[in-house]
Formats: sequence, C-alpha cells, structure tokens
Amino acid sequence: MPALTYPDTPEAMAAHLKRQLRDIVPEVELRVKAEIACEVNRLKRERRALILGHNYMEPALFHSVPDFTGDSLQLSRIAAKADADRIVFCGVRFMAETAKILNPHRTVLLPSPKGGCSLAAAITADEVRALKALLPGVPVVTYVNTYAEVKAESDYACTSGNAAAVVRRVFAEGHDRIVFLPDEYLGRNTARETGAVFVLPVRRGDGTLGAPDLPPPPARAIVGWPGRCEVHERFTVGDIREARRQFQDVVVVTHPECSPDVVAASDYSGGTTDMIRYVQGLRGGRVMLLTECTMGDNIMAACPKVEMLRLCSIRCPHMNEITLEETLASLRLDRYPVEVPPAVRDRARVSLDRMIATG
Ligand code: 13P
Ligand code: SF4
Repeated sequence: MPALTYPDTPEAMAAHLKRQLRDIVPEVELRVKAEIACEVNRLKRERRALILGHNYMEPALFHSVPDFTGDSLQLSRIAAKADADRIVFCGVRFMAETAKILNPHRTVLLPSPKGGCSLAAAITADEVRALKALLPGVPVVTYVNTYAEVKAESDYACTSGNAAAVVRRVFAEGHDRIVFLPDEYLGRNTARETGAVFVLPVRRGDGTLGAPDLPPPPARAIVGWPGRCEVHERFTVGDIREARRQFQDVVVVTHPECSPDVVAASDYSGGTTDMIRYVQGLRGGRVMLLTECTMGDNIMAACPKVEMLRLCSIRCPHMNEITLEETLASLRLDRYPVEVPPAVRDRARVSLDRMIATG
C-alpha cells in the first residue's frame, strides 16, 4: 500500500481539507489546521518520521498528516515493516506500545500521555496470572487493546478485525476452552460468531477469582473478562429503534465492542476498517455508525453515495487527546517516547506476531 501524500502549501492544504470534510470544520479553523499540518509534514520529512493515524483521529488530522490510516490491525502490520527513524502514533497508548514492541530499536512517540483506553485499564498482568492458575493449560487470547504486561502473559493477541479468525484458529488447534480478555462484549460477540458458550470467572466476596462454570466438553467455551469500552457500551438498542423509526431505510453499522443486543439489532458489525469497507460497498441510502463518532466524519468523503446520519456525539476522550497541535509538538520535541522493558517486550511479541499472521 503506497503512503498517503498531501499538498505542500497551506492554501492548497486548506482547499484539500475543505473537499474532504464537506463543511464539517469551519473554514477559519481549517486554515489554522492547514498551516499546522504543513509544518508537521515538513518536520516529518526532515526527521525521517512515519505518522500512523487511527480511524478515530480528529478529521483535520486524519486527512492531512498520516502516512497511513487504518484500524489497529492494519497499523500494527504497517508498524511491523517500518524503516523510518521515528514512528509517531496518532492513536492511543496501547497502539503505540504495539508499534514499539514490533520496533524495539526505533523511537516511537505518542503525541499525548493522556491517550489511554478503558479496556486496556480493565485488566492487569496479575489478574491474567490468577486466571491462568485457575485454568491451567487453557490458551489466552488477548485483545490488542491491552498493555504490554498483559500481552506478555498471553498466547495470542487479536484485534476486532480478526478476533473470530484467531479464536477459530485456537479451537482448530484442538483446544475447547479459551480465555479471551478483557472486552466482555467483544468476547460475547466472538463466542456467538464461533459457536462457543461464553462464561465469566467468578469474583468471590474477598475479591479473589473463582473458576467459571464451564459446560462439559465437547462444548466449546470462551472464558471472558468484564472489561468494557466506555464509548461503545453507551450505545443502546433504543438508539437503533429510534433511528429506524425516523428513517425506515437506515442501515445501522456497529463495532463489536458494542453489546451483543446492539450488534444483533444492527445490519452489520465489524472492526473500524471493516465498517468503512461495508459502507463504501453500499449503493446509496442512509447510514448510522455506532462507533466513536469522528469516524463517520472521516469517511464521508470516501463514501459519497451514502448520507451519514450525524446523530452521534460520543467521542473517545482518549483519542480526543491526540490533536494536530500535539502531533507537531511531538515531532519538534521528540515527545512522548514509549518504552517497553525488554523482558516484557520479547514475551508480548510472540502474541503480537501470531495476531499479525492471522486473518
Ligand atoms: P479497531 O481495532 O477496530 O480499529 O478499533 C480500535 C478501538 O479502539 C475501537 O474502540
Ligand atoms: Fe479504548 Fe473505547 Fe477509546 Fe477504543 S473507543 S480507545 S476501546 S476507550
């Protein structure tokens, strides 16, 4: 995939942004953003940097500076092949950490130290070790939305783009139980897709973990964890009903971090890039995306045949920390470098290599 290119002058950049954003951002703001973006791109060349931009980045950034845009899986695959001096990851910490694990000898920068994730914060390496002690020999599949210490305790990583493929692969290797961490809803949705029973470990009164109630073999089971995405857990079946009441023809597209009921009530569910591909394939009509709201704005220009219903206002507070201004400061000041201790990195890499190779 060739790297994206952008206009060199602020005037041409402002015109480009205006075309992409179809009046989403006021013109006066676009001019300011265009100036910053041109300076980011100049510094990017000077400092031999590669900028990766997740699909949830603010629209002006998304359309003006990343060499590559995409979902967690695509950006991990690109990071794995990077040969730039530095990688600036316009996404959240777990994504930049993944790029660092795959590029231990390059500088990886996260433009804001506040780019966290409620899922990554939902589980610790100690909790994974406790689960493994309860379920000896059961393979651990970990969502990429976790920190390196948790991945280091895992056998496989996955993203929403290949969770079902990774789980099928592990079942096909002869296991009939899998630990799947930490997103409960992605776990439940993946269990439904792969024909497995979903169970949660028991939390005892004293706070320790107890073994889950597993179905007898040959039934396949996924043992999950009660982590949630603070953005996607807010969408409800009522939101979908209301949209369908107002617009009978609306096509509803959901991210699998939404609850199973919301996913079941939608027309299509997939990771961020799968959602984009699905919408691009529609012949026309109205679309409601139930995911981080910026993405609808980001893909409007690439989906001219559909009308994107802008009914959503839920922004991921962590992704929101990554702005063009912070990206410029990151390049200028080489901030904020992401580090992963070698012992953790080498163990986490095993699970990431399997993720990159699957699906
Ligand atoms: P994708 O892997 O689909 O890009 O999603 C990442 C994420 O954080 C979704 O909330
Ligand atoms: Fe994490 Fe949810 Fe934000 Fe994605 S949208 S980075 S899962 S908090």
